[in-house]
Amino acid sequence: MMPMHFDFSGASVLVVGASRAGIGAAIARAFQTAGASVAITGAEPEPAPEDRGRFAYTRLDVTDAGAVRALAEATDRLDILVNCAAITARGEEMAPAFFEHVVNVNLHGTFRMAEAFHPHLKARSGVLINIASMYAMFGSPRNPAYGASKAAVVQLTKSLAIAWAADGIRVNAVAPGFVVTEQSARSRTDPAHVAAVNLRTPMGRWGQAEDIAGPVLFLASPAAGFMTGACLPIDGGYSIA
Ligand SMILES: NC(=O)c1ccc[n+]([C@@H]2O[C@H](COP(=O)([O-])OP(=O)(O)OC[C@H]3O[C@@H](n4cnc5c(N)ncnc54)[C@H](O)[C@@H]3O)[C@@H](O)[C@H]2O)c1
Repeated sequence: MMPMHFDFSGASVLVVGASRAGIGAAIARAFQTAGASVAITGAEPEPAPEDRGRFAYTRLDVTDAGAVRALAEATDRLDILVNCAAITARGEEMAPAFFEHVVNVNLHGTFRMAEAFHPHLKARSGVLINIASMYAMFGSPRNPAYGASKAAVVQLTKSLAIAWAADGIRVNAVAPGFVVTEQSARSRTDPAHVAAVNLRTPMGRWGQAEDIAGPVLFLASPAAGFMTGACLPIDGGYSIA
């Protein structure tokens, strides 16, 4: 991983959805390397093998309002909350029940976490970062619930940024492009899709989970102290080509 010159010594960070060695885990590791005390959550019973013992871990379903509230009540202090939990299933999201479930995890889950931890962030003049997606901007015929949920996450980011600015909380988002993780594993079994992404991306490759961590640390840092309500694309130029 590229060295990053951020110092989060003394900061408490919670990364929600960091159990699968994907983007959340890369963000959690980067904050820890920069000196923060980092806790993570995930839907799995345990984090990925390489992260076991490295972070305090809570198994958390973000659709369970009671569990979200219980975690907030059990948390003394939080400076930075990163909402990374999300699901999608290419080709399955026209089924109404699954559509609702995807929106429940990706959008309502993001709001549930933000609302539950609002007092913590207010007490510390903290930072909230939501993980959106390039599909917030583009139509996604095979992932309609995912696209709708991520567009709503961008809008929610703006609304919370305004609502909580007076509390000293900054709220921003990032919109990753195509990234090699478990979530994209199914779509990456289609060689034509993999090649088409490489061809269209000006930087000529898929992103790696670590590519997303740097901009997240930047947004959480004092260097971004006058930024709120923004959504940074991190896509190798895919969305401008
Ligand atoms: N991989 C990509 O190409 C890509 C592109 C754009 C945006 N993103 C976004 O980045 C974030 C991380 O994605 P990833 O690719 O690392 O995915 P991933 O599947 O590796 O990780 C998703 C995480 O969400 C958690 N999760 C799933 N359902 C949950 C639930 N009901 N309650 C709580 N946690 C739950 C999982 O346990 C896991 O920790 C997501 O918000 C995703 O939408 C990914």
